[in-house]
Amino acid sequence: MQTFDATRHLRDRFWHPVCHRSELPAEGDYLRFEWLGEDLVVHHDGGRILAFDNLCRHRGARIFGGDVGNAVATCPYHGWTYRAGRLAGGAPEPALACGVQLRELPTAWCADFLFVAIDPAASLQAQLGGVAPMLEDISFQLAGRHDFNRAHYECDWQVAVENALEPDHIGFVHPQSLGKLDLQDGDNAFHGINSVWSAPLGSRSTARRLASISRFFGAQGAYQGYLSIYLFPFSMLSSTFGLSYSMQNFFPAAAPGSTHFTSRLYQTAVQPGAPDGVASTMFNASAAMNRQVFAEDAAVCRLVPAGTWTSEALPWPTAAEAKVEHFRASYRAQTAAQSVAQSVAQSVAHA
Ligand code: FES
Ligand SMILES: [Fe+2]
Repeated sequence: MQTFDATRHLRDRFWHPVCHRSELPAEGDYLRFEWLGEDLVVHHDGGRILAFDNLCRHRGARIFGGDVGNAVATCPYHGWTYRAGRLAGGAPEPALACGVQLRELPTAWCADFLFVAIDPAASLQAQLGGVAPMLEDISFQLAGRHDFNRAHYECDWQVAVENALEPDHIGFVHPQSLGKLDLQDGDNAFHGINSVWSAPLGSRSTARRLASISRFFGAQGAYQGYLSIYLFPFSMLSSTFGLSYSMQNFFPAAAPGSTHFTSRLYQTAVQPGAPDGVASTMFNASAAMNRQVFAEDAAVCRLVPAGTWTSEALPWPTAAEAKVEHFRASYRAQTAAQSVAQSVAQSVAHA
């Protein structure tokens, strides 16, 4: 009997943010991700952006090999070529005549953020709930990708997500990076299964400096502090003063104790009259800082052995772990009900 796989369920039935529209501006632009031993590719092809499993319909080879790039969807094995998701060349006539199509995945936009699902349980708007307007506002401020970073976390994805959801570890793990902002007790806002943390900076000198340069960026109305939006189940979007935004995906790998981490730094629009170099200096510094923070997080997450994470309520939660508790409650609610439903369906099927 097939057992219920909670991680697969969360991957398949939920929408996941995968990119901003500005990342795929030209025909041929693509991004490739990995989750549960499979690939996910988003490709600008034939005037639209499509998502698919990266597998050729001939004999199943992976079509794209890089993380990001620009290419026609031509399979490197025997040369079958696809246009806008449909076989268009390099194949025998009978295959071309059949109208063979790539296995496309459902996509949906929240303003300029692209989400992908496999078999979504709800509409994207229903899943996002109250965070949708916030994401829409942010998406309109972004002017392109400044940095693409891929790393391997040697931990279960839940450990990596929980680490990103609590600030208690910052002083221990990030003393020379994120810790320098001296983030204060923040406010949590819960929107269904998603959550938002906003925290003022304790470092007055940094806050003054960021406030003074924010007039050069498309950050009007942005929160004047550190903002972190968690999008259940695998993704985060964070920013300091709205000058740039970091998208982080903690996609589960096939093997336990392994997480495919991808982060992107998006730059906001630079205002006319900004002094030369101020934007590139700031974006470069943010990208370097983020990479350091993620490397520090990966190192500490490795301390939690594979397979030991549990969705049980925390035994001694601190105030700063409220989002971790919320994540676990969401996880339990979203997986337990489905587990029961699946076992009922299976027992009916076998009756
Ligand atoms: S497997 Fe792709 S062309 Fe043969
Ligand atoms: Fe961290």
